[in-house]
Amino acid sequence: HGVLRYGLARGTRAGNVAARVMYDPAVVADPYAAYEHLRGQARLVSNGLVRSAHDHDLVAAVLRSPDVVTIGGFRPPPLLRGLTRLAGRGPAGPVEKPSLLAVDGLDHARMRKIVIRSFSAKAVARLRTRTEAIAADLLDGLEAAGARGGADLVRDYAGLLPATVIAEMLGAPTDMRAQFLHWGAGAAFSLDPGMVYPDFRRSEKDIAEFERWMRGHVERVRRDPVPGTILADLVAASDEQGALDDTELVGVAMLLLAAGFETTVNLIGNAVVLLLADPDQLALLREHPEHWENAVDEALRLESPVQRTARAVVRDTEVAGEQLRAGQLVGLVLAAANRDPRVFEDPARFDVTRANAAAHLAFSGGPHYCLGAGLARMEAEVALRALLDRFPDLALDGPPRRRRTRVLRGYDAMPVRLRG
Ligand code: HEM
Repeated sequence: HGVLRYGLARGTRAGNVAARVMYDPAVVADPYAAYEHLRGQARLVSNGLVRSAHDHDLVAAVLRSPDVVTIGGFRPPPLLRGLTRLAGRGPAGPVEKPSLLAVDGLDHARMRKIVIRSFSAKAVARLRTRTEAIAADLLDGLEAAGARGGADLVRDYAGLLPATVIAEMLGAPTDMRAQFLHWGAGAAFSLDPGMVYPDFRRSEKDIAEFERWMRGHVERVRRDPVPGTILADLVAASDEQGALDDTELVGVAMLLLAAGFETTVNLIGNAVVLLLADPDQLALLREHPEHWENAVDEALRLESPVQRTARAVVRDTEVAGEQLRAGQLVGLVLAAANRDPRVFEDPARFDVTRANAAAHLAFSGGPHYCLGAGLARMEAEVALRALLDRFPDLALDGPPRRRRTRVLRGYDAMPVRLRG
């Protein structure tokens, strides 16, 4: 790990900062100054392995370019093959092949088409009432935890809400939510470049267990499908029309379940911290609840739950004025693009009425644009409004604890006081 860390920096100042963004815990705690520095250096900053983009124009254009593929879907040149082999040895995790996030072109279109209907605006609208009921239930639990002397917003609410919604949608047992959250947290480490060895071991173990469970569950669904759930539809489409082979089926199911909560928990936690730190914005929302939808996008923009993604270039091309060459890896720092001052005025300011807040790239763009964007927005709005309606005097009870993950940005503990 140490060799990799310093081998990447290549001695240039920008390269050093680029490497620190990925590896230095202090920069991970607050990466935004580093992003700004890098955006000012060059449109593409190399750390020796990856060229990273930090401006909105370039990040958006690379995501939409037909000349790039996802990293998981990329067959690296021989020189890099050793490195990538070091990374994934165990069973495929939620973002490795054959997950949607690691498949491109026609295979990707085929797989995405099967699930897209379940996440349409209409499908999401139908889930709102049920999500409100889940929120109300979980708030009872939060209150009970508070009465016992320790309410934790992440543990008791922000994680459970999206986990319950996605488990019900898929037809996965909701009484396994805590187990799903545990596996998801382990799998999340595998997104980070240069993770430390104990995290690597934990992620491999959790991914293996998660995969084994999902394989068994798919078999149970095959024998005894619950009509109207996504997994029952997936199994039927695969068995009757050959839509997905078994490995693909398990991969898609794992991604849907993990993506369904692993990011939204961060959005809810990040938004709570932003709102509690800014009573004027909160007061404005109380008076004008019609801004809630935009407030969720503003939180996504300012504290993006997925800070970065990457693509591999498959043929020489020019994108937004930059020359890219076949075989290059391009880091796309979504969270930096979302603070690009050329697109967002006074970008570090939290402004729930910002006119173009939704122009953020927090859900990525192009063919892999987040399938659950509408669902996540709805869940966050429901979760935040229900929380602040029930507990108008909600306050942090000590500093929240940041997750150590770097690609995913959020909190893993947030003690709160429910009443003033
Ligand atoms: C893809 C972010 C919630 C399902 C993505 C990507 C991002 C993202 C950035 C694309 C990564 C890339 O381009 O490389 C988020 C954020 C969320 C969220 C910030 C919450 C705040 C959800 C939810 C689901 C979901 C609730 C529901 C299952 C997916 C799926 C993909 C995806 C299936 C892969 C799509 C594809 O490759 O075609 N998400 N996501 N996401 N997301 Fe989300």
